[in-house]
Amino acid sequence: MLDPVFPHCHLLGIEGLSPLEINHLLDLADPYVEINRNRENASESLKGRTIVNLFFENSTRTRTSFELAALRLGANVINMQIGSSSVAKGETLIDTAVTLNAMHPDVLVVRHPQSGAVKLLSEKVNCAVINGGDGSHEHPTQALLDALTIRRRRSKIEGLKVAICGDVAHSRVARSNFYLLLTLGAEVRVIAPRTLIPSHVEKLGVQTFNDMRKGLKDCDIVMMLRVQNERMTGSLIPSVREYFRFFGLDREKLSLAKPDALIMHPGPMNRGVEIDSDVADDFERSVIREQVELGVAVRMAVLELLAKNLAATRTNVSAAS
Ligand code: CP
Repeated sequence: MLDPVFPHCHLLGIEGLSPLEINHLLDLADPYVEINRNRENASESLKGRTIVNLFFENSTRTRTSFELAALRLGANVINMQIGSSSVAKGETLIDTAVTLNAMHPDVLVVRHPQSGAVKLLSEKVNCAVINGGDGSHEHPTQALLDALTIRRRRSKIEGLKVAICGDVAHSRVARSNFYLLLTLGAEVRVIAPRTLIPSHVEKLGVQTFNDMRKGLKDCDIVMMLRVQNERMTGSLIPSVREYFRFFGLDREKLSLAKPDALIMHPGPMNRGVEIDSDVADDFERSVIREQVELGVAVRMAVLELLAKNLAATRTNVSAAS
């Protein structure tokens, strides 16, 4: 039977998910945090299933945590080495996906530099597909792990003031977080230079600021983003020094947020560009390592749920034929 709350076969984005669906994913992930810490009560619910990590862009956290999550649930994991695969001989994304699909994997976890590429791929295969980040579009499991981190620290998301600061224009993390946080009732502020704020972002329901000192006032959560030079055409910031002076999080700017405001960053961090080491490593306030830890729990829950839904779909098909 398909999961009654989340009856989907793919996780391609947060956009369009209901509060009930998002909270269900967070509720499923929560118990895995403790199971991961002490490794007791671990289940083998994905025994015999095959997960393929197909990453066309670099990754440390997402790829490794999907691999760990799958292994902890007893699945087999294949990490495609894109550089030594037939992609290097010119095979297309779709041909690669169709080829892998012919080997009957259960889940493909895909990261790709083009926005929309993972959705396109999902239409060509009959296994579950998880978006591990597509261009500047979405990174749904990052937003879920961010939400789980906030919810465990603050017991709620509704009503919190969350500042998302930095290179919002190129950030799939920001976009997934907008959808998730607004759906769950948070107040979302974007703080960035004008050149790094996407046009019409206010239409989503976020407030925009070009001054950190105004935007951070009374915030509960300060989420910093990396300057993504690899996605920029031309220079959108004057210099690293200037950027850090006006938009880098340091102790003085942080003092404008609530005294117990949490510091978050999806990683990888550019220390001295968007964040000062002094605040990144302040373990009273910074939950950056906790975000990484909770990423494994979120990915366990998502893999387990989609694998169950896929099995239900396959059962229905074979019963009907
Ligand atoms: N946050 C994130 O997606 O990190 P990686 O690029 O290391 O996976």
